[in-house]
Amino acid sequence: MPETTPPNKDLSSGTITVRVNGRSLPCLPGQTVAGALLMAGFYQMRRSPNADAPRGAFCMVGACQECAIMIDGTIRRACQTEVHDGMEIRLEGAGMGGVAENSSTTATDAGGKTVESGIS
Ligand code: FES
Repeated sequence: MPETTPPNKDLSSGTITVRVNGRSLPCLPGQTVAGALLMAGFYQMRRSPNADAPRGAFCMVGACQECAIMIDGTIRRACQTEVHDGMEIRLEGAGMGGVAENSSTTATDAGGKTVESGIS
């Protein structure tokens, strides 16, 4: 049976913490930002500049640019960026499940339903 964990991704070494709009989000070392956000329930990561429509990770291979968000002060593709302890992630736009500016611990799923985010 093939190995299911990538060889250089030790997922048993505990968690690290990133900051999403100033709130703490525990992640697994080796995760991508997109993976961490999706696991926390953040399917919507930004809004499109022209249509103001919700956007989130789509291809997960770096091709579509839909996951381009502010990471450590630079716009990067969340699906191609590995988390590190203390990373600062900025989700922009309305409908970010309240994480943007208030103290809510909810996110918005792909269908627009409010769900618990796992963020604290
Ligand atoms: S999800 Fe397509 S570039 Fe990241």
